[in-house]
Amino acid sequence: MSPRPADPALETALTRTFGLRLPVIAGGLMWLSDARYVAAGARAGILSFLTAASFPDPDDLRREIARCRDMAAGRPFGVNVSMLPKLVPGERTADVFRLIADAGVRVVETSGRNPEPYLPILKDAGITVIHKVPGVRYALKAQSVGVDMVSIVGAECGGHPGMDLVGSMVNLALAERRLAIPFLIGGGIGAGSQIVAALAAGAAGVVIGTRFLAADEIGAHPDYKSAMVAATERDTALSMASLRNTIRTLRNETTEIVAQLEAGDPDIGIEALMPYVAGAIGRRAYETGDVSRGMLSAGQSLGLLDRAEPLAATIATLEAEAAAALARLRPAPAARKPREDAHP
Ligand SMILES: Cc1cc2nc3c(=O)[nH]c(=O)nc-3n(C[C@H](O)[C@H](O)[C@H](O)COP(=O)(O)O)c2cc1C
Repeated sequence: MSPRPADPALETALTRTFGLRLPVIAGGLMWLSDARYVAAGARAGILSFLTAASFPDPDDLRREIARCRDMAAGRPFGVNVSMLPKLVPGERTADVFRLIADAGVRVVETSGRNPEPYLPILKDAGITVIHKVPGVRYALKAQSVGVDMVSIVGAECGGHPGMDLVGSMVNLALAERRLAIPFLIGGGIGAGSQIVAALAAGAAGVVIGTRFLAADEIGAHPDYKSAMVAATERDTALSMASLRNTIRTLRNETTEIVAQLEAGDPDIGIEALMPYVAGAIGRRAYETGDVSRGMLSAGQSLGLLDRAEPLAATIATLEAEAAAALARLRPAPAARKPREDAHP
Protein backbone atom coordinates (compact mmCIF):
# COMPACT_ATOMS: atom_id res chain seq x y z
CA MET A 1 0.00 0.00 0.00
CA SER A 2 1.57 3.25 -1.15
CA PRO A 3 1.63 5.84 1.63
CA ARG A 4 0.77 8.56 -0.90
CA PRO A 5 -2.28 9.31 -3.01
CA ALA A 6 -2.13 7.88 -6.53
CA ASP A 7 -2.98 11.35 -7.89
CA PRO A 8 -1.03 14.37 -6.56
CA ALA A 9 -4.31 16.33 -6.59
CA LEU A 10 -5.34 14.28 -3.55
CA GLU A 11 -2.24 15.20 -1.53
CA THR A 12 -3.02 17.50 1.37
CA ALA A 13 -1.66 18.53 4.77
CA LEU A 14 -3.47 15.45 6.15
CA THR A 15 -2.00 12.91 3.72
CA ARG A 16 1.47 14.43 4.07
CA THR A 17 1.40 14.50 7.87
CA PHE A 18 0.32 10.88 8.24
CA GLY A 19 1.42 9.28 4.97
CA LEU A 20 -2.10 8.45 3.78
CA ARG A 21 -3.30 7.13 0.46
CA LEU A 22 -6.57 9.07 0.65
CA PRO A 23 -7.33 12.31 2.59
CA VAL A 24 -9.93 10.50 4.68
CA ILE A 25 -10.46 10.13 8.42
CA ALA A 26 -12.70 7.41 9.83
CA GLY A 27 -14.10 9.22 12.88
CA GLY A 28 -14.57 7.51 16.23
CA LEU A 29 -17.68 5.30 16.44
CA MET A 30 -19.00 4.59 19.93
CA TRP A 31 -18.96 0.80 20.57
CA LEU A 32 -18.00 0.11 16.95
CA SER A 33 -14.53 1.46 16.09
CA ASP A 34 -12.33 -1.16 17.73
CA ALA A 35 -8.82 -2.32 16.83
CA ARG A 36 -9.98 -4.58 14.00
CA TYR A 37 -11.85 -1.76 12.23
CA VAL A 38 -9.24 0.91 12.93
CA ALA A 39 -6.33 -1.26 11.80
CA ALA A 40 -8.20 -2.18 8.60
CA GLY A 41 -8.52 1.53 7.82
CA ALA A 42 -4.85 2.12 8.63
CA ARG A 43 -3.72 -0.71 6.35
CA ALA A 44 -5.94 0.62 3.55
CA GLY A 45 -4.32 4.06 3.78
CA ILE A 46 -6.75 6.23 5.75
CA LEU A 47 -6.53 7.54 9.32
CA SER A 48 -8.96 5.79 11.67
CA PHE A 49 -9.83 6.36 15.30
CA LEU A 50 -10.43 4.00 18.20
CA THR A 51 -13.10 5.33 20.57
CA ALA A 52 -11.71 5.70 24.07
CA ALA A 53 -15.20 5.86 25.60
CA SER A 54 -15.92 2.32 24.38
CA PHE A 55 -13.16 1.10 26.76
CA PRO A 56 -13.96 2.68 30.14
CA ASP A 57 -11.50 0.41 31.95
CA PRO A 58 -8.01 1.91 31.42
CA ASP A 59 -6.44 -1.55 31.08
CA ASP A 60 -8.89 -2.40 28.31
CA LEU A 61 -8.09 0.82 26.45
CA ARG A 62 -4.35 0.18 26.81
CA ARG A 63 -4.82 -3.36 25.48
CA GLU A 64 -6.95 -2.19 22.55
CA ILE A 65 -4.35 0.40 21.54
CA ALA A 66 -1.64 -2.31 21.67
CA ARG A 67 -3.85 -4.67 19.64
CA CYS A 68 -4.40 -1.94 17.08
CA ARG A 69 -0.68 -1.28 16.82
CA ASP A 70 -0.05 -5.01 16.23
CA MET A 71 -2.66 -5.16 13.48
CA ALA A 72 -1.96 -1.83 11.75
CA ALA A 73 1.26 -2.97 10.04
CA GLY A 74 3.16 0.15 11.11
CA ARG A 75 0.56 2.52 9.68
CA PRO A 76 -0.69 5.43 11.80
CA PHE A 77 -3.98 5.37 13.69
CA GLY A 78 -5.51 7.57 16.38
CA VAL A 79 -7.79 7.60 19.40
CA ASN A 80 -11.04 9.54 19.64
CA VAL A 81 -11.85 11.19 22.95
CA SER A 82 -15.40 12.43 23.10
CA MET A 83 -15.64 14.85 25.99
CA LEU A 84 -19.41 14.91 26.24
CA PRO A 85 -19.83 14.67 30.03
CA LYS A 86 -22.01 11.59 29.78
CA LEU A 87 -19.31 9.65 27.93
CA VAL A 88 -16.15 10.55 29.82
CA PRO A 89 -16.68 12.12 33.25
CA GLY A 90 -14.62 15.32 33.54
CA GLU A 91 -12.24 14.09 36.20
CA ARG A 92 -11.35 11.04 34.10
CA THR A 93 -10.68 12.94 30.88
CA ALA A 94 -7.13 14.04 31.76
CA ASP A 95 -6.28 10.45 32.76
CA VAL A 96 -7.52 9.19 29.40
CA PHE A 97 -5.32 11.68 27.55
CA ARG A 98 -2.32 10.72 29.71
CA LEU A 99 -2.89 7.05 28.98
CA ILE A 100 -3.07 7.77 25.24
CA ALA A 101 0.13 9.83 25.37
CA ASP A 102 1.95 7.12 27.36
CA ALA A 103 0.82 4.53 24.81
CA GLY A 104 2.66 6.46 22.07
CA VAL A 105 -0.42 7.37 20.01
CA ARG A 106 0.42 10.06 17.42
CA VAL A 107 -2.96 11.68 16.85
CA VAL A 108 -6.22 12.24 18.74
CA GLU A 109 -9.64 13.27 17.55
CA THR A 110 -11.35 15.28 20.27
CA SER A 111 -15.02 16.23 20.29
CA GLY A 112 -17.88 17.35 22.50
CA ARG A 113 -16.19 20.14 24.44
CA ASN A 114 -13.35 22.65 24.26
CA PRO A 115 -10.11 20.60 24.47
CA GLU A 116 -8.03 23.56 25.71
CA PRO A 117 -7.46 22.27 29.28
CA TYR A 118 -5.90 19.07 27.92
CA LEU A 119 -3.77 20.52 25.11
CA PRO A 120 -0.59 20.77 27.26
CA ILE A 121 -0.68 17.00 27.95
CA LEU A 122 -1.06 16.30 24.24
CA LYS A 123 1.39 18.91 22.96
CA ASP A 124 4.09 17.80 25.40
CA ALA A 125 3.75 14.30 23.97
CA GLY A 126 3.99 15.60 20.38
CA ILE A 127 0.44 14.44 19.57
CA THR A 128 -1.47 16.01 16.68
CA VAL A 129 -4.90 17.21 17.82
CA ILE A 130 -7.80 17.17 15.39
CA HIS A 131 -10.81 18.71 17.11
CA LYS A 132 -14.24 17.91 15.71
CA VAL A 133 -16.96 20.55 15.87
CA PRO A 134 -20.51 20.97 14.54
CA GLY A 135 -19.99 24.36 12.89
CA VAL A 136 -17.48 26.95 11.72
CA ARG A 137 -17.94 29.20 14.74
CA TYR A 138 -16.71 26.40 17.01
CA ALA A 139 -13.85 25.71 14.59
CA LEU A 140 -12.68 29.31 14.99
CA LYS A 141 -12.66 28.86 18.75
CA ALA A 142 -10.69 25.60 18.44
CA GLN A 143 -8.19 27.32 16.15
CA SER A 144 -7.74 30.11 18.70
CA VAL A 145 -6.87 27.67 21.51
CA GLY A 146 -4.20 25.96 19.39
CA VAL A 147 -5.49 22.66 17.97
CA ASP A 148 -3.60 21.46 14.88
CA MET A 149 -6.57 20.75 12.62
CA VAL A 150 -10.34 20.92 12.89
CA SER A 151 -13.02 18.75 11.38
CA ILE A 152 -16.39 20.36 10.86
CA VAL A 153 -19.42 18.11 10.67
CA GLY A 154 -22.58 19.43 9.07
CA ALA A 155 -26.29 18.79 9.62
CA GLU A 156 -26.20 15.61 7.53
CA CYS A 157 -23.90 13.74 9.90
CA GLY A 158 -24.56 10.68 12.00
CA GLY A 159 -24.22 11.40 15.72
CA HIS A 160 -24.18 14.98 16.96
CA PRO A 161 -24.66 17.72 14.34
CA GLY A 162 -24.99 20.50 16.95
CA MET A 163 -27.85 22.96 17.25
CA ASP A 164 -27.34 25.20 14.20
CA LEU A 165 -27.78 22.45 11.58
CA VAL A 166 -25.78 24.15 8.86
CA GLY A 167 -25.12 21.85 5.91
CA SER A 168 -21.70 20.58 4.88
CA MET A 169 -21.54 22.54 1.59
CA VAL A 170 -22.01 25.82 3.44
CA ASN A 171 -19.55 24.80 6.17
CA LEU A 172 -17.04 24.00 3.44
CA ALA A 173 -17.11 27.42 1.81
CA LEU A 174 -17.23 29.26 5.14
CA ALA A 175 -14.30 27.27 6.51
CA GLU A 176 -12.19 28.13 3.47
CA ARG A 177 -12.91 31.82 4.00
CA ARG A 178 -12.46 31.96 7.75
CA LEU A 179 -9.93 29.38 8.94
CA ALA A 180 -6.15 29.49 8.76
CA ILE A 181 -5.42 25.95 10.03
CA PRO A 182 -6.06 22.79 7.97
CA PHE A 183 -9.69 21.72 8.12
CA LEU A 184 -11.64 18.59 7.25
CA ILE A 185 -15.31 18.42 6.29
CA GLY A 186 -17.74 15.75 7.42
CA GLY A 187 -21.44 15.09 7.46
CA GLY A 188 -22.96 13.25 4.52
CA ILE A 189 -19.66 12.32 2.86
CA GLY A 190 -19.87 8.92 1.22
CA ALA A 191 -18.57 9.25 -2.35
CA GLY A 192 -15.17 10.00 -3.85
CA SER A 193 -16.61 12.91 -5.82
CA GLN A 194 -17.41 14.62 -2.51
CA ILE A 195 -13.78 14.20 -1.41
CA VAL A 196 -12.64 16.01 -4.58
CA ALA A 197 -15.26 18.73 -4.01
CA ALA A 198 -14.02 19.23 -0.44
CA LEU A 199 -10.41 19.45 -1.57
CA ALA A 200 -11.33 21.87 -4.38
CA ALA A 201 -12.84 24.14 -1.73
CA GLY A 202 -9.70 24.10 0.37
CA ALA A 203 -10.30 21.22 2.80
CA ALA A 204 -7.38 18.99 3.80
CA GLY A 205 -9.70 15.99 3.79
CA VAL A 206 -12.98 14.56 4.94
CA VAL A 207 -14.26 12.71 8.00
CA ILE A 208 -16.53 9.73 7.46
CA GLY A 209 -18.63 7.64 9.84
CA THR A 210 -21.91 6.46 8.33
CA ARG A 211 -20.53 5.25 4.97
CA PHE A 212 -18.36 2.70 6.82
CA LEU A 213 -21.02 1.26 9.16
CA ALA A 214 -21.52 -1.97 7.19
CA ALA A 215 -17.80 -2.71 6.84
CA ASP A 216 -16.92 -6.35 7.51
CA GLU A 217 -14.55 -5.21 10.26
CA ILE A 218 -17.32 -3.38 12.18
CA GLY A 219 -18.11 -5.70 15.10
CA ALA A 220 -21.91 -5.59 14.87
CA HIS A 221 -24.59 -8.18 14.06
CA PRO A 222 -25.09 -8.89 10.31
CA ASP A 223 -28.76 -7.83 10.62
CA TYR A 224 -27.61 -4.39 11.82
CA LYS A 225 -25.38 -4.08 8.74
CA SER A 226 -28.21 -5.24 6.45
CA ALA A 227 -30.44 -2.58 7.99
CA MET A 228 -27.79 0.07 7.32
CA VAL A 229 -27.48 -1.07 3.69
CA ALA A 230 -31.25 -1.11 3.21
CA ALA A 231 -31.77 2.35 4.74
CA THR A 232 -31.81 5.41 2.50
CA GLU A 233 -30.89 9.05 2.93
CA ARG A 234 -34.48 9.61 4.15
CA ASP A 235 -34.33 7.12 7.00
CA THR A 236 -32.74 9.18 9.76
CA ALA A 237 -34.29 11.28 12.49
CA LEU A 238 -33.08 14.19 14.60
CA SER A 239 -33.85 13.87 18.33
CA MET A 240 -33.01 15.50 21.65
CA ALA A 241 -32.96 19.09 20.39
CA SER A 242 -34.99 19.89 23.54
CA LEU A 243 -31.89 18.96 25.56
CA ARG A 244 -29.65 21.03 23.26
CA ASN A 245 -27.93 17.74 22.43
CA THR A 246 -29.30 17.02 18.97
CA ILE A 247 -28.48 13.58 17.60
CA ARG A 248 -29.07 12.09 14.14
CA THR A 249 -29.86 8.38 14.22
CA LEU A 250 -31.61 5.68 12.24
CA ARG A 251 -35.38 6.37 12.35
CA ASN A 252 -37.01 3.60 14.40
CA GLU A 253 -39.54 2.99 17.20
CA THR A 254 -37.37 4.83 19.70
CA THR A 255 -37.03 7.99 17.63
CA GLU A 256 -40.82 8.03 17.06
CA ILE A 257 -41.47 7.79 20.82
CA VAL A 258 -38.86 10.41 21.65
CA ALA A 259 -40.30 12.77 19.01
CA GLN A 260 -43.73 12.45 20.63
CA LEU A 261 -42.35 13.02 24.13
CA GLU A 262 -40.35 16.07 23.04
CA ALA A 263 -43.30 17.52 21.14
CA GLY A 264 -45.55 16.96 24.17
CA ASP A 265 -43.19 18.66 26.61
CA PRO A 266 -40.49 20.97 25.27
CA ASP A 267 -38.92 21.05 28.75
CA ILE A 268 -38.73 17.31 29.11
CA GLY A 269 -35.50 16.36 30.85
CA ILE A 270 -32.94 13.66 30.21
CA GLU A 271 -34.34 11.51 33.06
CA ALA A 272 -37.67 11.10 31.26
CA LEU A 273 -35.93 10.19 27.99
CA MET A 274 -33.28 7.92 29.47
CA PRO A 275 -35.41 4.72 29.34
CA TYR A 276 -35.38 5.15 25.55
CA VAL A 277 -32.06 6.81 24.72
CA ALA A 278 -29.65 5.06 27.13
CA GLY A 279 -26.48 3.96 25.37
CA ALA A 280 -26.91 0.39 26.62
CA ILE A 281 -30.04 -0.03 24.46
CA GLY A 282 -28.15 1.00 21.34
CA ARG A 283 -25.28 -1.28 22.24
CA ARG A 284 -27.72 -4.19 22.49
CA ALA A 285 -28.96 -3.42 18.97
CA TYR A 286 -25.41 -3.77 17.65
CA GLU A 287 -25.18 -7.17 19.37
CA THR A 288 -28.60 -8.57 18.45
CA GLY A 289 -29.19 -6.87 15.11
CA ASP A 290 -32.65 -5.68 16.23
CA VAL A 291 -32.53 -2.04 15.10
CA SER A 292 -36.09 -1.20 16.11
CA ARG A 293 -34.98 0.22 19.46
CA GLY A 294 -32.16 2.45 20.63
CA MET A 295 -30.48 5.59 19.40
CA LEU A 296 -28.39 4.23 16.53
CA SER A 297 -26.27 7.07 15.21
CA ALA A 298 -26.39 7.24 11.42
CA GLY A 299 -26.39 10.08 8.90
CA GLN A 300 -27.89 10.90 5.54
CA SER A 301 -25.08 9.18 3.66
CA LEU A 302 -26.90 5.94 4.48
CA GLY A 303 -28.20 6.57 0.96
CA LEU A 304 -24.65 6.02 -0.35
CA LEU A 305 -24.02 2.85 1.68
CA ASP A 306 -24.99 0.06 -0.70
CA ARG A 307 -23.24 -3.11 0.47
CA ALA A 308 -21.48 -4.86 3.32
CA GLU A 309 -17.88 -5.48 2.30
CA PRO A 310 -14.32 -5.23 3.62
CA LEU A 311 -13.40 -1.66 4.56
CA ALA A 312 -10.53 -1.78 2.04
CA ALA A 313 -13.07 -2.38 -0.75
CA THR A 314 -15.07 0.71 0.23
CA ILE A 315 -11.89 2.76 0.38
CA ALA A 316 -10.90 1.47 -3.07
CA THR A 317 -14.34 2.56 -4.35
CA LEU A 318 -13.89 6.03 -2.84
CA GLU A 319 -10.47 6.23 -4.49
CA ALA A 320 -11.85 5.21 -7.91
CA GLU A 321 -14.73 7.68 -7.57
CA ALA A 322 -12.28 10.45 -6.67
CA ALA A 323 -10.18 9.58 -9.73
CA ALA A 324 -13.30 9.72 -11.92
CA ALA A 325 -14.26 13.10 -10.47
CA LEU A 326 -10.77 14.45 -11.13
CA ALA A 327 -10.94 13.12 -14.69
CA ARG A 328 -14.21 15.00 -15.22
CA LEU A 329 -12.43 18.19 -14.20
CA ARG A 330 -9.53 17.46 -16.54
CA PRO A 331 -11.07 16.70 -19.92
CA ALA A 332 -8.81 14.87 -22.34
CA PRO A 333 -6.81 17.32 -24.51
CA ALA A 334 -8.73 16.29 -27.64
CA ALA A 335 -12.00 17.18 -25.98
CA ARG A 336 -10.76 20.61 -25.01
CA LYS A 337 -9.76 21.62 -28.54
CA PRO A 338 -12.43 21.21 -31.24
CA ARG A 339 -11.18 19.19 -34.18
CA GLU A 340 -10.62 21.37 -37.23
CA ASP A 341 -12.87 19.25 -39.41
CA ALA A 342 -15.69 19.31 -36.83
CA HIS A 343 -18.79 21.17 -37.93
CA PRO A 344 -21.06 22.91 -35.42
C1 LIG B 1 -22.53 4.94 14.94
C2 LIG B 1 -21.76 6.23 15.15
C3 LIG B 1 -21.10 6.44 16.36
C4 LIG B 1 -20.36 7.61 16.55
N1 LIG B 1 -19.68 7.79 17.74
C5 LIG B 1 -18.90 8.88 17.91
C6 LIG B 1 -18.13 9.04 19.09
O1 LIG B 1 -18.15 8.20 19.99
N2 LIG B 1 -17.34 10.15 19.21
C7 LIG B 1 -17.29 11.09 18.21
O2 LIG B 1 -16.57 12.08 18.36
N3 LIG B 1 -18.02 10.97 17.07
C8 LIG B 1 -18.81 9.89 16.91
N4 LIG B 1 -19.52 9.74 15.73
C9 LIG B 1 -19.36 10.73 14.65
C10 LIG B 1 -18.35 10.25 13.60
O3 LIG B 1 -17.07 10.10 14.16
C11 LIG B 1 -18.25 11.21 12.41
O4 LIG B 1 -17.90 12.50 12.87
C12 LIG B 1 -19.57 11.32 11.64
O5 LIG B 1 -20.14 10.05 11.51
C13 LIG B 1 -19.34 11.94 10.28
O6 LIG B 1 -20.53 12.14 9.60
P1 LIG B 1 -21.24 11.01 8.67
O7 LIG B 1 -21.93 10.11 9.64
O8 LIG B 1 -22.20 11.78 7.85
O9 LIG B 1 -20.18 10.32 7.89
C14 LIG B 1 -20.31 8.60 15.53
C15 LIG B 1 -21.00 8.39 14.34
C16 LIG B 1 -21.73 7.23 14.13
C17 LIG B 1 -22.43 7.04 12.82
